[in-house]
Amino acid sequence: MDGSLLVIGNSDGIGLAFSRLALARGLRVVGLSRSPAPLAHENLVQIRTDVTASDYRDLLTRVQAEQGPFRAAIYCAGIGNEDDLTWWRGEGRVIELNFLGAVRSLEVLLPIWLEQGAGHFVALSSLADALTVRDAPSYCSSKAGLSRFLEAAGLRLAKSGVAVSNVRFGFVDTKMARAPVRPFMIDTDEAARVLWRVLETRPLRLSHPKRALAMVTIIRWLTAPVVWFRRDRSRARRNAEKPPEGQDGSPRDETEG
Ligand SMILES: NC(=O)c1ccc[n+]([C@@H]2O[C@H](COP(=O)([O-])OP(=O)(O)OC[C@H]3O[C@@H](n4cnc5c(N)ncnc54)[C@H](OP(=O)(O)O)[C@@H]3O)[C@@H](O)[C@H]2O)c1
Repeated sequence: MDGSLLVIGNSDGIGLAFSRLALARGLRVVGLSRSPAPLAHENLVQIRTDVTASDYRDLLTRVQAEQGPFRAAIYCAGIGNEDDLTWWRGEGRVIELNFLGAVRSLEVLLPIWLEQGAGHFVALSSLADALTVRDAPSYCSSKAGLSRFLEAAGLRLAKSGVAVSNVRFGFVDTKMARAPVRPFMIDTDEAARVLWRVLETRPLRLSHPKRALAMVTIIRWLTAPVVWFRRDRSRARRNAEKPPEGQDGSPRDETEG
């Protein structure tokens, strides 16, 4: 394999491990992230940017013109939301980065790839795309949206020479994997090797590891009825719907008023 790779979100975690692997295997890497990557290599160009910034598209257009053409782009940028009492305040930002950031990146990269009849867009979704996770509304919905977008775009681009790959990991050992129990967790080096295989084989969807996929499938079916049959039976709702005293046939206090 040769050429330049664009790795979006490569200062930490999976993107960092993948950048290391690609550089070690002789590729040139252009990395984008807000903080500097703890990496130094003659074949690495590191650019600091926030994918959610209003000038991101302009910056990516410039990066592609000055540093491209890219053989492939790997979208590794992502966040979860803080699990605190005001969790809803950060929900839009999660969707903005995890979902819209990937969509906007492809929007910018695609025209040149279509002209060349070659290119590959890889993005890291998650096995969580199949789950309705009570503690992570924005995370699981951003990944559900991302997975559907990537796979539909991949089908639409079939025969264009441009491939799209939706990579769905289970737990990977990074700062993002914060759950108290993390079954079948893999390390970032394994995740990087999986991404390398994705570049070689260009699958539309890859889920890894398979044991985690099986577990998520079972959890999905076991928890589905919670959503299907859920009704709001909370005391708060019953109180809100209770008619004011005297309007429901209950005896009025004649001494009132
Ligand atoms: N770890 C897991 O268990 C797991 C499982 C399944 C899927 N995934 C997915 O894999 C992807 C990578 O996750 P990770 O575990 O490697 O996370 P990570 O260690 O937290 O790394 C996230 C990367 O995204 C970058 N990033 C965050 N916000 C950004 C922004 N606004 N603009 C530009 N770059 C930004 C970070 O760099 P800066 O902070 O320097 O900007 C960092 O390089 C995510 O999409 C995640 O959802 C992770």
